[in-house]
Amino acid sequence: MNRTLIRNIGQLATPTGRAAKRGPDQGEIVLLENAWVLTEKGMITAVGTGEAPTADRVIDAGGQLVTPGLVDAHTHLIFGGWRQNELAMKIRNVPYLEILAAGGGIHSTVKATHAATEEALIEKAAAALDEMLSFGTTTCEAKSGYGLQTDEELKQLRAIRALNERHPIDLVPTFLGAHALPPAYKERREDFIRLLCDEMIPAVAEEKLARFCDVFCETGVFTAAEAEEILKAGKRYGLIPKIHADEIDPIGGSQLAGRIGAISAEHLIVCPEEGIESMAKGGTIACCLPATSFYLNATYAPARKMIEAGVPVALASDFNPGSCPCLNLQLVMNLGCLKYRMTPEEVLTGVTLNAAAAIGMAERVGSAEVGKQADLVIWKAPDLNYLCYRLGSNLAGTVIKKGEICHG
Ligand code: NIG
Ligand code: FE
Repeated sequence: MNRTLIRNIGQLATPTGRAAKRGPDQGEIVLLENAWVLTEKGMITAVGTGEAPTADRVIDAGGQLVTPGLVDAHTHLIFGGWRQNELAMKIRNVPYLEILAAGGGIHSTVKATHAATEEALIEKAAAALDEMLSFGTTTCEAKSGYGLQTDEELKQLRAIRALNERHPIDLVPTFLGAHALPPAYKERREDFIRLLCDEMIPAVAEEKLARFCDVFCETGVFTAAEAEEILKAGKRYGLIPKIHADEIDPIGGSQLAGRIGAISAEHLIVCPEEGIESMAKGGTIACCLPATSFYLNATYAPARKMIEAGVPVALASDFNPGSCPCLNLQLVMNLGCLKYRMTPEEVLTGVTLNAAAAIGMAERVGSAEVGKQADLVIWKAPDLNYLCYRLGSNLAGTVIKKGEICHG
């Protein structure tokens, strides 16, 4: 049973290609009516409209919308505990960076993550991945960053590797040892940078535990100069740079991203013009996280300006226990339309092809076309507009991963 036909697709909506789409191309997607997709051994082997070929197995899409499986290009998937205790502080408008500076925030999750065994972290993240799959996500980036010491960062990354083997969602690992400055290093930050560059990065590379190196470049966390040093060290060990930039204060992260050739810069809530220019020049993908803006009660990244400047925009969840405990990319799509003023077509590219490109996966996933992995979602929606317009329901019907039904 290896030829599977998905037939009776009311609308097939997909970007095309194997690289990120920028400018007007971001909204240029293919929309096919009365379509079908043929898959073989987990790959898409034909796509068409009208009369469908025969197959060993048929999945009837019931005249509904089909898109590529969603790609979540930014998550902090592995962590111990939760942080519901911060909700009361949020309601009282205590700033995110103030909670962090007082030893809460990321630091409290670091403690809970240290206290958890690797197996416990795996079990917990597996439940999150099941939920993501149920929302239509089939590929996901996952960061470390709640270890902040060598053995604990390796524990998180090994958990990601184990999950990639045991869960249908494809996981792409990122080393984020530079997620916060541990309190013990407050007066000797240079020592922590040395630990990152001379011990953690080589250890991560030695075990091939990550593809990317990320830094939280933010007031009170790491400066742009420190981020540059860490990302350059990562590069020497084959880790491709990513950066959390301009989330709360614009301290040069997006400018650095373009200059250093980062594959993506994330957040960009307060991204200045020079940052947009630098990313456009450097070919950096803007990975915007609108659910985090919502959750922090912050402003929204200038995604339209980025598209106009020729920067490819990806959209992701930022799932984490502090600034965005949300696994649902459908909500991110709603916010992309309503808050960024992106069109449904631009948004779809943002959560599929551009997201895949932001994590180096665009050769394999991110579009429903011949030669790509057969990762597809049959939605409880007649068309893309409906999917982006409804709010608060889970519209994922059947989720197909490598040609197999994984959910629904
Ligand atoms: O992307 N900004 C840094 N990291 C996460 C938040 C992590 C946390 O609060 O635990 C983010 O928003
Ligand atoms: Fe993040």
